[in-house]
Amino acid sequence: MPDIDLRSDTTTRPTPGMRRAMAEAEVGDDVFGEDPTVRALEERTAELLGAEAALYTPSAHMANQIAVYLAARSGEEVWTHELSHVVANEQGGTSVLARVLPRTFGGPESVPPQEVLDAWIAGTDDVHRAQPALITLENTFTGRVMPLEGQRRTVRFAREHGLRVHLDGSRLWNAAVALGVPLAAAAEGPDTVTVCFSKGLGAPVGAALASDAGTIRRARRARKLLGGGMRQAGIIAAGALYALDHHLDRLAEDHARAARLASGIGGLPGLSAAAHTNMALLTTPAGQAARYAEAFAAAGVGSVPIAPDTIRMVVHLDIPDSAIDDAVSRIAKASAALHG
Ligand SMILES: Cc1ncc(COP(=O)(O)O)c(C=O)c1O
Repeated sequence: MPDIDLRSDTTTRPTPGMRRAMAEAEVGDDVFGEDPTVRALEERTAELLGAEAALYTPSAHMANQIAVYLAARSGEEVWTHELSHVVANEQGGTSVLARVLPRTFGGPESVPPQEVLDAWIAGTDDVHRAQPALITLENTFTGRVMPLEGQRRTVRFAREHGLRVHLDGSRLWNAAVALGVPLAAAAEGPDTVTVCFSKGLGAPVGAALASDAGTIRRARRARKLLGGGMRQAGIIAAGALYALDHHLDRLAEDHARAARLASGIGGLPGLSAAAHTNMALLTTPAGQAARYAEAFAAAGVGSVPIAPDTIRMVVHLDIPDSAIDDAVSRIAKASAALHG
């Protein structure tokens, strides 16, 4: 494992304070609805997101899949970005579980362009066409903040045409900080919203799905169907509650460090870099991302090649300023040797 691990914000370890909160959590059997810590987390999350209710899930993956399962019937269409986590990184779960048909668009934004929506909705009463049911959005999307106007426009379109909207807001915390708006404003509009506690917030386990009370009642049944009913889950929910209390306000530090990382790397031989929230995206010479990432790993800096010439580096709770400076100097040496 690299000693400066910038592969993902999922790699954080619980802090001593978080571990204490977890050890001392009051618990009960959550499948019976009797775990007070899980209930507190669900209520707190719903309140933060301006939703009626929320459901604690073992993962953001499960929260997303439950949302799709509840919104679309087998054979209906789900409109989403081709690189959205929901369809690109959840093992084709939408086709296995909800058995829906993904219809995908590309481009730098997770929001479908209006002309795509207009073209796709035209002729949906044609007997040959599958029926659309759901549009999914993602914020942040590979670190990029989705403009809220795009979300509002998509939700307006969905309402006009009887579609639902799901927001994969696994990193919505980062988006809200970058936009300078309350979480509830960033979550406003979509029918269901996933948030994740075990990415930038630094909790060890869990995510939540937020929505209206009726949808969350159905989501609770769907979670059980998937084997996601948990018993004394207050132990892990306490880590998430602790993260909401202690780690939300510090996310801006990660964003500043990602910017410092990108400015240190940009201009090194063969590399350019841009920061988006807590991520730095590096552009390598064509087709060289895997080779550069390997050289960085050999120098003790973990990163992920996400496209043939793009490397992702993610800043998080366990990455102080000193690690950023250290990473930049190791990357400088490694890239000089490669470019050499
Ligand atoms: C945007 C997004 N959504 C959902 C997930 C799924 O999260 P998990 O694997 O923790 O369930 C991830 C994971 O990195 C993600 O980046």
